[in-house]
Amino acid sequence: GPVDPFDYIVFGATGDLTMRKLLPALYYRFRDGQMPADARIIGAARSKLSDDDFRGRAEKALARFVKAPDLDEAVARRFIGQIYFASVNGAEADSTWENLLRLFDDGVASRTRVFYLATSPSLYGDICRNLSEHGLVTPQSRVVLEKPIGTDLGSAERINDEVGQVFEEKKIFRIDHYLGKETVQNLIALRFANPVFERLWSSDAIDHVQITAAETVGVEGRGDYYDSSGALRDMIQNHLLQVMCLVAMEPPGALDADSLRNEKLKVLRALKPIAPDDVAHVAIRGQYGRGKIGDTVVPGYMEELGEGRQSRTETFVALKAEIHNWRWGKVPFYLRSGKRLPNKSSEIVVQFKETPWSIFKSKLQSNRLIIRLQPQEGIQLSIMSKDPGPDGMVLRPANIDISFEKAFSTRYPDAYERLLMDTVRGDPVLFMRRDEVEAAWTWVEPVLDGWARHPDTLHYYSAGSWGPDAARTLLSRDGRCWHEDV
Ligand code: BG6
Repeated sequence: GPVDPFDYIVFGATGDLTMRKLLPALYYRFRDGQMPADARIIGAARSKLSDDDFRGRAEKALARFVKAPDLDEAVARRFIGQIYFASVNGAEADSTWENLLRLFDDGVASRTRVFYLATSPSLYGDICRNLSEHGLVTPQSRVVLEKPIGTDLGSAERINDEVGQVFEEKKIFRIDHYLGKETVQNLIALRFANPVFERLWSSDAIDHVQITAAETVGVEGRGDYYDSSGALRDMIQNHLLQVMCLVAMEPPGALDADSLRNEKLKVLRALKPIAPDDVAHVAIRGQYGRGKIGDTVVPGYMEELGEGRQSRTETFVALKAEIHNWRWGKVPFYLRSGKRLPNKSSEIVVQFKETPWSIFKSKLQSNRLIIRLQPQEGIQLSIMSKDPGPDGMVLRPANIDISFEKAFSTRYPDAYERLLMDTVRGDPVLFMRRDEVEAAWTWVEPVLDGWARHPDTLHYYSAGSWGPDAARTLLSRDGRCWHEDV
């Protein structure tokens, strides 16, 4: 249903995230009647744009990033009429703040106000201080922080401290858009509404887990951000560890924010620390070179960054995470993410143990549960079955396969649609608490240190391959393989 009138103020409004994700998400919520006619979206950025200039950009963004049949011209026009722009130096306490202040008269003082920071995280503290000093932070205000928060533990703590001086923890929404994905939320349903899985969910039955987020895209004009970040900070520290937490956590006592986050935090804190000298073996990093995806030849990472640019930033990571607790002792979680891989897919593979003994001549393949997060959202369970025919007991794997698309014929909303509305309603369940973010950095940081100490750990892979060979060795050394190699 519709939410109360609100003002949504986006810092970093001219950036890629705003255009690609935030405006399209808000458009869908408006189209579906959730965003009231007097709600406002206020873009804030340093560029000197008028409301109309910014509306023009918004219109282009919708044309580009909303699927054509969903883009209704009249609806889009009304939506764009609710967009404003303020040219503000967010990080400086200068006179440009007047441009924002003029939009906030007494008439809107009691509305929900959401400040969405889609800038470089190094500015979050300054922007919050300036918001406060200009009297813009009301009791109905909250702040949304995009990931990654900081570049290591120290900077994350500093940012959290600075933001925390202006906003109480419960007013801070640290977004991880993977938590807004329908299929990621469905993990909670799958595990805790279906005893058939939960009874098997431990080292008793499970051999190991693989979590992959593969992309075909390269860095797409985000080179400056990406090159200073890399795949470990961009994907593993947040998205993949959050998904891992939902797979590995104990059943929470209830479905409220703190019950859930307490359980996720316990998983992060139980992660076996990776010693910098083990990094070469358990945390593989790679960078793509020129290669072919499908029939298209694509340039290598450094070429994509630009003429003559050198870089040692990783665009691929595969690592082994071990959760030291009773449920998961001896069950490694292999996490992997990369750009310019053969296809776009995010999935969780739960590999079950072998039969203790086999009475068959056919080689048995252990059961495997594949949870497809995107695309072709669904769940697949491989089981060994008898090959029908007169030739005796010949077995082969077959699948029990559920496609969510076919089971529920509704559109899959983009993760941001759900999450942006949660920030308006003030529902923090799908957002990260400070201690989770810091626990994730605590685990990730030694990997960054180890890589810095051992420069020869950077491998290269061709665009269109599944990453460097070392990623395969990571599993074969344990007598296992990535599921696409089975
Ligand atoms: C973002 C990363 O958080 O997630 C991007 O910064 C990445 O580099 C994106 O492309 C992937 O998200 P999705 O929803 O397409 O899997």
